[in-house]
Amino acid sequence: MSDTTTGDPAATGFELHPGRGRFNAAFFGAMGPVLDSAMGPRKRRVFAGLRGTVVEIGPGVGANLPYLPHGSTLIGIEPNRYMHAGLRAAAERHGVELDLRERVAESTGLPDGSADAVISSLVLCSVRDPEAVLAEVRRILRPGGSFRFLEHVRAPEGTPTRAAQRALRRPWAWTFEGCSCERDLERAVRDAGFRTVEVEHYRVHTPFLPFNTHIAGVAGV
Ligand SMILES: C[S@@+](CC[C@H](N)C(=O)[O-])C[C@H]1O[C@@H](n2cnc3c(N)ncnc32)[C@H](O)[C@@H]1O
Repeated sequence: MSDTTTGDPAATGFELHPGRGRFNAAFFGAMGPVLDSAMGPRKRRVFAGLRGTVVEIGPGVGANLPYLPHGSTLIGIEPNRYMHAGLRAAAERHGVELDLRERVAESTGLPDGSADAVISSLVLCSVRDPEAVLAEVRRILRPGGSFRFLEHVRAPEGTPTRAAQRALRRPWAWTFEGCSCERDLERAVRDAGFRTVEVEHYRVHTPFLPFNTHIAGVAGV
């Protein structure tokens, strides 16, 4: 089991690979417009009305910053330091005050009940320990706060997408720094002890077949 007490990426087993870390920063920067056209309508709904202290786990190079109110403050928990320059630039562009921390979401270092909302997109697929991350999200949310998420998930058994996920799982995880295209993240969120959970399933259409089955939702504490 990894040591999650410090939140230090290296101490928790987060492996920052100089080549793939940079590749992923460039890839998600370049893919931003494509992903945005596929996921934007859900993001607008799921992230509507954010205010107060908002924490984003795994913000990458800032794909979600356009959905935050101008002038808001975001605490970003991003262990891949190759993402940081792009993220800072995106915050500047979108008028978001960024408090960036090089930590993992399994251990944010934030006080109990200190966040009004936690947001994430395409992150629970990549973290080492989704259950630990969801427990941490619950811990830092204040009563009445919400976790707003968009994730890609395991496809239903017997579908071509599921077959592609099985066939490509290893090169997929290698290329995208530990990302699994086979996680049942709806089950993980439902089992995490939130008071309410609303989940919508949808499909995006990209050339990356293992990636195309998605969920979006809100979990309340
Ligand atoms: C697929 S990218 C998604 C980035 C961004 N959220 C987006 O939608 O474009 C996954 C992100 O999760 C981050 N990540 C991986 N493991 C993490 C962890 N344990 N805690 C927090 N972030 C993590 C990666 O560094 C990367 O920025």
